[in-house]
Amino acid sequence: MTEIEHDTETVEPSGDGFSRRALLGWTGGALVVGAAAAGGVATAVTGTEDKSSAPALGAVDFHGANQAGIATPVQDRLHFCVFDVITDDRAKLVRMLQQWTAAAAAMTAGKAIGTGADSGVPQSPPDDTGEAVGLPPNNLTLTVGFGPSLFTKDGKDRFQIAAKKPEALAELPLFPGDKLDPQRSGGDIAVQACSDDPQVAVHAIRNLARIGFGVVSVRWSQLGFGKTSSTTPEAMTPRNLFGFKDGTRNIAGTETDRLREHVWVPAGEGPQWMTGGSYLVARRIRMHIETWDRTSLQEQQDVIGRSKGVGAPHGATGEHDVVPLKALPEKSHVRLSHPDSNNGVTILRRGYSFVDGSDGLGRLEAGLFFLAYQRDPRKGFIPLQQQLAANDTMNEYIQHVGSALFACPGGVRGADDYWGKALFA
Ligand code: HEM
Repeated sequence: MTEIEHDTETVEPSGDGFSRRALLGWTGGALVVGAAAAGGVATAVTGTEDKSSAPALGAVDFHGANQAGIATPVQDRLHFCVFDVITDDRAKLVRMLQQWTAAAAAMTAGKAIGTGADSGVPQSPPDDTGEAVGLPPNNLTLTVGFGPSLFTKDGKDRFQIAAKKPEALAELPLFPGDKLDPQRSGGDIAVQACSDDPQVAVHAIRNLARIGFGVVSVRWSQLGFGKTSSTTPEAMTPRNLFGFKDGTRNIAGTETDRLREHVWVPAGEGPQWMTGGSYLVARRIRMHIETWDRTSLQEQQDVIGRSKGVGAPHGATGEHDVVPLKALPEKSHVRLSHPDSNNGVTILRRGYSFVDGSDGLGRLEAGLFFLAYQRDPRKGFIPLQQQLAANDTMNEYIQHVGSALFACPGGVRGADDYWGKALFA
């Protein structure tokens, strides 16, 4: 197995409740992280005591050349959270990243943080909030990304890292039709938590926010359900809120060559700390589903360019048949987004549906939280979205209302590594 493939490896649970691979990460003994941040946060996480009763069922390897949560088989639930750093103190930020990494390694292995939820100093808040006690990680992955504003904010190089900002991490342009809410856009640091159990994903973000108290504050967050893309083509393709199969033609987690070509940043491309990393575009896309639901089946299928039932492209019969591009309506979504219509542009989609209640006008506040990973957004999302924003007939039924871009570094290599170590070195 190559290093690149590492990311997709799922850990076998061992009989004693520890994941084999997770134990390897702890063989140096207790991983001591920096002094506690405000609020009585964990100072040490040990691998020799399992503070939760959860077996590590479905534990995805946290360590590797690439971060988990990108090529990893897409889990069913998402909690995505974007933080702003509220201190100018570089040492505090680094210490928090160390604490976050230790906590992430523990949680993804199905362990509680620090001394757990029901032990430790009685006069202090517990190290772990506790709602995941007894729950296996259910393939929890935690993926971190750094936004452009972490490098320079209001012209200020707060953390002496401006010189290490990748050129590919330029702010995304405004696209035709965008109606972006600043309170759901941008941000300094993103954490994508994915799990097949929503409580596990929410627990992970909540605990990172708690650990970061005084260093970061939550800028915006998004819950997602029902993955709208798949990185496992052998599994049934999920459907989005328009009722269509979504993710039929995506990069699979096992396609190492395509991942290398389109997703992972190779050595020598941009700053060294991004080697093995990827760029994440997040777009909150509102879907006008009431309008869609009053649209004829034929119009719906023409907008997408595929059939609603089987998911076959126009002019073909099977979902996975070659897309005969010329048989699709000229301005259909699939024809316009297909690599052959975009000089080969290919991205890895990993989005989720959302329904955040209703909007006060009796319409569901629903849509697609679009997540796409790529080697360089200037050759991925940006030209693709320029094409779609200008021509896609689907625009009548959707609106982009939130937007952010993050540089996700390569994976955490072992117990002495932490999120952002190479960036802050
Ligand atoms: C609410 C918004 C969107 C909906 C409902 C949607 C839905 C779909 C559906 C049903 C398919 C066909 C199945 C498949 O191959 O996955 C598809 C394909 C695709 N979409 Fe979207 N999509 C949306 C937004 C976007 C955006 C913003 C982009 C990129 C900028 C994008 C890029 C693609 C690509 C690259 C394909 C595969 C094309 C191919 O290779 O055949 N989509 N989408």
